[in-house]
Amino acid sequence: MNDLDPALVQRVTDRFRESFPGEAPRLAMAPGRVNLIGEHTDYNDGFVLPMAIARAALVAFRPRNDGVLRAHSIAFDATKEAAIASLAAPGGHDWFAYVAGVLWAFASEGLPVCGLDVVVDGDVPIGAGLSSSAALEMATARALCAATGSPWQPARMAKLGQRAENAYVGMNCGIMDQFASAACEPGNALLLDCRSLETRAVPLPKGVAVVVMDTGARRSLAASAYNERRAACERVVAEIARTKPGIAELRDVSAEDLEAVKTRLDETDAKRASHVIAEIARPAALAAAFGEGDLVKAGRLMKESHVSLRDLYEVSCEELDLITGLARRQPSCYGARMTGAGFGGCGIALVDEGDVAAFCEEVLFGYKATFDLPAALYPCRPMAGAHLLE
Ligand code: GLA
Repeated sequence: MNDLDPALVQRVTDRFRESFPGEAPRLAMAPGRVNLIGEHTDYNDGFVLPMAIARAALVAFRPRNDGVLRAHSIAFDATKEAAIASLAAPGGHDWFAYVAGVLWAFASEGLPVCGLDVVVDGDVPIGAGLSSSAALEMATARALCAATGSPWQPARMAKLGQRAENAYVGMNCGIMDQFASAACEPGNALLLDCRSLETRAVPLPKGVAVVVMDTGARRSLAASAYNERRAACERVVAEIARTKPGIAELRDVSAEDLEAVKTRLDETDAKRASHVIAEIARPAALAAAFGEGDLVKAGRLMKESHVSLRDLYEVSCEELDLITGLARRQPSCYGARMTGAGFGGCGIALVDEGDVAAFCEEVLFGYKATFDLPAALYPCRPMAGAHLLE
């Protein structure tokens, strides 16, 4: 069911024993994700097509009966604690805030909570656009449900995780990352309607692999640039809604609606909105291309998405443009694009399965000739969402 690195499981279990002697812990995991297409559409009530990857956050946990959260992070070699009753938003931006924020969100919605000893670790690279934070949130939520005997409801948990991140951590993200981490199925990408939260499992076409292309570039200003993009989308909706009823999000806006008000909009805001409106249609189109086995069309959609993110939404960067361009030049590659929020992080490519090793080698070689960054390329299969390891 999962390809979790056994060394990671061992490390977390061992550290728990050292940090919190006593009864053995239980283990909850939640994966990171790549998004195949549908970028910056989730907070516009659009569609996305993510899949969970075999890199995950892992939480070893044991309930406490005094209402205290004691957490140790292996990655940061730090221990922090707080009384759950004293948690209040906003609660900070560090690793502990993702754990505490989930407990806060549970408590503030009246769901059962209990004190916990936890050790957290993972192998989703931090800041690489593979959703290490959503993975930590969903692994914490999975642990908390198990500790309190609450049923695991992936969609509800994803919303709680998003709330923790929006209100407690202060990052205004959409629902995609938490939803993918909570609800993905092995072997399938997940076509998600971010308005209704309806989903459809989308199998990948036979014979192709999804390759993650980590540029090694990390951007520190990503959060403010992200929030600015979101605000631009909201301004366009507000302007259109002045004259057209029934417009709540860019999901409700057509290319013609946008054209009709263009002269009343800031030029940059109009560019942002035109990306979102076209991108909202791409997840269903890519799912259809996969269903028809039309990999040429799939590749074309991926390229269109990348170009739109680069030129209209302006969230790509030189590293992402180079690595996706190098990928497209390989004969074994059908298409490539950036994935996630952008400003660094990862691209993805659709590659003939038999040629993955040569593909990775060629692209890495070309990339390293320009950028001296810790880049890495690896294929990934669609994995299961959050679960207990028992
Ligand atoms: C980040 C956010 C998501 C989504 C993507 C862009 O990963 O957390 O909600 O908006 O960026 O598609």
